[in-house]
Amino acid sequence: MSQVAREPRILIVGLGLIGSSLAAGLRRAGVAGEIRACDPHLDELTRAREMGLVDGGGACLAEQLDGVNLVVLAVPVLAMCDVMHELATDRHRAAPDLVITDVGSTKATIREAAVAAFGSLPANLVLGHPIAGSEKSGLDAVDPALFEGHKVILTPAPSTSTDAVGRVRALWATVGAEVLEMDVDRHDAVLARTSHLPHLLAFSLVDTLARQDERLDIFRYAAGGFRDFTRIAGSDPVMWRDIFAANQSAVLDALDEFEAGLARLRHAVEAGDADAMLSTLDRASHARRYFDSLLNQRSYQAEYQMQESTSLCYRAGPGGAVQGRIRVPGDKSVSHRSIMLGALAEGVTEVSGFLEGEDSLATLQAFREMGVAIEGPHQGRVTIHGVGLHGLQVPAGPLYVGNAGTAMRLFAGLLAGQAFDTELTGDTSLTRRPMGRVADPLREMGAVIDTAEGGRPPLKIRGGQALKGIDYDMPMASAQVKSCLLLAGLYADSETRVREPAPTRDHTERMLGGLGYRVERHGDTCWLQGGGALQAAPIDVPADISSAAFFLVAAAITPGADLVLEHVGVNPTRIGVINILQRMGADLRLENEHEVGGEPVADLHVRYAPLHGIDIPADQVPLAIDEFPALFVAAANAEGVTRLRDAGELRVKESDRLQAMADGFARLGVEHTLYDEGIDIMGRNTDGPNYRGADVDSLGDHRIAMAFAVAALRAEGAVNVRDCANVATSFPGFIELARRVGLTIEEQQEGA
Ligand code: S3P
Repeated sequence: MSQVAREPRILIVGLGLIGSSLAAGLRRAGVAGEIRACDPHLDELTRAREMGLVDGGGACLAEQLDGVNLVVLAVPVLAMCDVMHELATDRHRAAPDLVITDVGSTKATIREAAVAAFGSLPANLVLGHPIAGSEKSGLDAVDPALFEGHKVILTPAPSTSTDAVGRVRALWATVGAEVLEMDVDRHDAVLARTSHLPHLLAFSLVDTLARQDERLDIFRYAAGGFRDFTRIAGSDPVMWRDIFAANQSAVLDALDEFEAGLARLRHAVEAGDADAMLSTLDRASHARRYFDSLLNQRSYQAEYQMQESTSLCYRAGPGGAVQGRIRVPGDKSVSHRSIMLGALAEGVTEVSGFLEGEDSLATLQAFREMGVAIEGPHQGRVTIHGVGLHGLQVPAGPLYVGNAGTAMRLFAGLLAGQAFDTELTGDTSLTRRPMGRVADPLREMGAVIDTAEGGRPPLKIRGGQALKGIDYDMPMASAQVKSCLLLAGLYADSETRVREPAPTRDHTERMLGGLGYRVERHGDTCWLQGGGALQAAPIDVPADISSAAFFLVAAAITPGADLVLEHVGVNPTRIGVINILQRMGADLRLENEHEVGGEPVADLHVRYAPLHGIDIPADQVPLAIDEFPALFVAAANAEGVTRLRDAGELRVKESDRLQAMADGFARLGVEHTLYDEGIDIMGRNTDGPNYRGADVDSLGDHRIAMAFAVAALRAEGAVNVRDCANVATSFPGFIELARRVGLTIEEQQEGA
C-alpha cells in the first residue's frame, strides 16, 4: 500500500504550474485535510478557489501560516530567499509539527537560502524536486495528473528528521509520484546535464534562429526536428533565468563538456571525416536507445545510484507444455568478443546473430566511447569499423559495463595495453565480484591497475605501460582470466602463455585465429606472441547454449515435451549441459551438425524422458559453469540424488548461485544439502507435481530468474520470481519465447 498524506492543513506557496497541479492532484486523491495557498496574485487565488483546488489563502505568508502542518514552497528559485526569511520569522504561527519542503530545480542555493534565513539547516526542512513540468506555466496549465509516474528527488541532509522525510514522501506518493533520494551536489550535477543544459541549448538555438528569421524566413519552413528540439524554449523565461543563475557552476561545467563535444563534431564535419561523424552519431543514437531501456527497467539506479522502488517479477503458472521449434538469442561470450576483436582489427567486420542483450550492448557502447564507429545492431547485424590494435581513443569518462563480468575482465586485459588511462565500473552485482584474479597477473605483466578494497571494481587502469609476456598458471579454471591475459598479450613484448587447470571455453583463441592472429595450444596451455595485427573477417554468432539450457531443461522435465532449438553453438568447451542431461537420462539429440566461422553448431532436439540423479563428473563443471541453475532444476525433477562438487566458482557469479538456488529450493520444498563448493539435490519424479509453488528471489541474477521460471512446469502452484529485470542482460525476449513453447508466464511490476 502506498502512503497517503495525512496533513490536517497544507499551505502551498506559489500557484504556478507545480503548486496548482500539486493542489489539484491532492484534491483528486481525496486528501482529507485543508489546502491553502499563498500567492501575490489575488485574482489567481480567487480562481484557484473557484476551481475547487484550494480552500482559501491570501497574499501574506505570515497570515497564512496559522496552524499549518506542511508548507510546500513552489516559488521561483531566486524568490526562495525572501520566502525563507519570512518563514523563519513567522514559523511560530504554524503547528508544532510543521514540515517544510520545496519544489525548486536546484538544491544547493536553496539550502544556502535556508541556512541564511534559519541560522542552520532546519531538521524539519526536506528539500525536494519533482521531475515533472511542461513548457506551459501558471494556473492555466494546471494538471492533477502532472506528477503521476514521475520521479520526485528528495535531498535530505543527515540531520533531516526521518519523520519529516516520511511525510514529504507521503505527500508525493499521494499524487502518484515515485520518490527517490540523493544528495544535493549530485542532484545539481545530474540536473545540470539532464535538464538545465538542454533548456539552455533550446533557448539559445531559437534565439539565434529568431535573429536570422527576417532574413531567411526560417520559422515558416521549420518542421519536425525544430519542433522536437525546441519545444522547451517556450518555457517560463524568469524561472529558467533563476535556475541558470542558481546552478551556475554545474551548468557551466555541463556547457564546457558540451562545447568540447560540439567542437569535435564540427571538426569531423569540416574535415569530411565520415568515420568520425558516424562514430559520434551512432554512439549518440544508440546511447539514446540504450539509456531509454536502462531508465525503463532497472539501471536508473545503476546509473544514478538512486533508489528504485519497483522491480520486475515473473509469475510462472504451474504446469504447461514445451513444444515447437525456436531459436534463442546469440551467444553472449561470442557477442562480447565479436565487438572487442572487430574493433581491434584492421578493416570492417560484419557480425550476424549478435546478442542484443544489455551485457553485450554495454561492450558495444564502451567501444563507441573509445571512438570506434559501429553500425547497428539491426536484427543481430553489426558492422564494426575496426581501428587496429592501437587506434582506440581515450573515452570521456569511466566505461560502464553494467552486469557483465566478461566485459570487465576482458576489457581489463586489452585496456592495460593502451596508451591512455581508463576506469571500468559496473552495476551493484558486478561491484561485488572479484577482479584480483585478472588484476594480479596483469600486474605481473607490468600493468598498473588499482582496484577497490578486496580487489573489487571499479578498476583504474593506467595507460602507457610496456607490457611483458608471462607464463601464467591459472589458479582457477576461468575463460575470462585466460582471455584477459591473451588480450593483454597482444600488446606484450614477447610470448604470453596461459595454463588452465581444466578446459574452459576457447572462443577467444578460435576467434583470434579467425581474424588471422596465431594462437597456439599444446595440452592445457595456450600462447600467443605480442605485436601482431588482426584482420577483419565476418563473424556468425550461433545461438547461446547457455540460454538454450533453460529450454533443454524445460523439455527434459515436462512429460509430453518435444522441442527443437535451432542453430545452437556446441563448441566442445560449452557442452557440459548436454553431457550432463544425457547422463541423467534425457532424450537429447544433436541434429543438422555443421560449422560456422570456426564454431560447431547444431539443432538440439529434446523429448521428455524420465531423469535420474547422477554424480556430476568434475571435468564437466567448467564446461557447464553457467548452466547449473538450470541443471539444478533438472536435478530437482530427477529421481534420486544429484551431487555436485568442485563448483566454488558458482559463488562468485552474478549472485552466489549455490546459495540463491538453495534458498529458492527451500521455499519450493526441494530437499538439498549445501556445501562450500557444491550441493546435493534430492530430486523426485512423480506423476504429479514434484514440489510446491512459492515466492522466490532471483537476487537480480538473470540465470536464477529463468531457472525458477522453468521450475514452475513441475510445481504444484505458481512460482513467483522476484527481481527479474536482469534477464535482459543475456536473454531479451525470454518471456515471449517461453510462452511460445507453452509455459504460462507473465511479467509484473512489483513495489519493493
Ligand atoms: C565467460 C566465462 C565464464 C562464464 C561467463 C562467460 C566468458 O566465466 O561463467 O558467463 O565469456 O569467457 P569464468 O571464465 O570466469 O568461469
